[in-house]
Amino acid sequence: MARQASPYVDAPRLPEQDEIDVASLLAQTTGDLELEIGPGRGMFLLERLAAAPDARVIGLEIRRKWSQLVDEKVRARGLGARARVLADDARLALAKLRPDGAVARVFVHFPDPWWKKRHAKRFVIGDALVGEIARLLRPGGELFVQTDVEDRAAQYVAEIAKDLRLSPAGDAPGSPRLSANPYGARSNREKRADEDGLPVHRMRWTRA
Ligand SMILES: C[S@@+](CC[C@H](N)C(=O)[O-])C[C@H]1O[C@@H](n2cnc3c(N)ncnc32)[C@H](O)[C@@H]1O
Repeated sequence: MARQASPYVDAPRLPEQDEIDVASLLAQTTGDLELEIGPGRGMFLLERLAAAPDARVIGLEIRRKWSQLVDEKVRARGLGARARVLADDARLALAKLRPDGAVARVFVHFPDPWWKKRHAKRFVIGDALVGEIARLLRPGGELFVQTDVEDRAAQYVAEIAKDLRLSPAGDAPGSPRLSANPYGARSNREKRADEDGLPVHRMRWTRA
């Protein structure tokens, strides 16, 4: 029997260029530009559009199914000019985005759900991605990361500390740790962690 094509093969993706003007991805030309890496089922992205009516948001989601479904949801709500979700690997995509300093905020919620050593190569947060985030953030721009795994939080703190362009911006001076999510929007996994009473490790850095 012939194999059926995935219904998501045509999920929207970044243009096939080495350098992409990030603002050109959206019809709306004004408002802070925000990136969400791995939005999954998209709750944060949709809530964020409501919480920050002037912000524009681009989601980069490696799973075509979720990128397409969330992108369709955004458009169905009439928000397609302010937001897109594209089916791309953030580890490759960020390096193509221009210009430096174009982005106000980067959100990464509950990345890296892999436990086997051989899956470490899939990790999103690594030195290459952190370097691209630091390049893309404007001065004072924010990187917000959350996870429900303490070891991963420690790993991210150590990784991000290596990039001197990013300064810890948590509750206490010198620490990236935040007790609450200040962005008026929750991710699907965050909501579930809250409902299950699981601790969530939240961290923020700003671009020097
Ligand atoms: C554990 S899920 C969390 C989903 C969502 N952020 C949340 O908090 O509910 C991790 C998400 O990151 C996506 N992801 C993993 N690697 C990625 C990559 N290299 N680029 C873009 N998205 C990625 C996965 O497909 C998945 O949707």
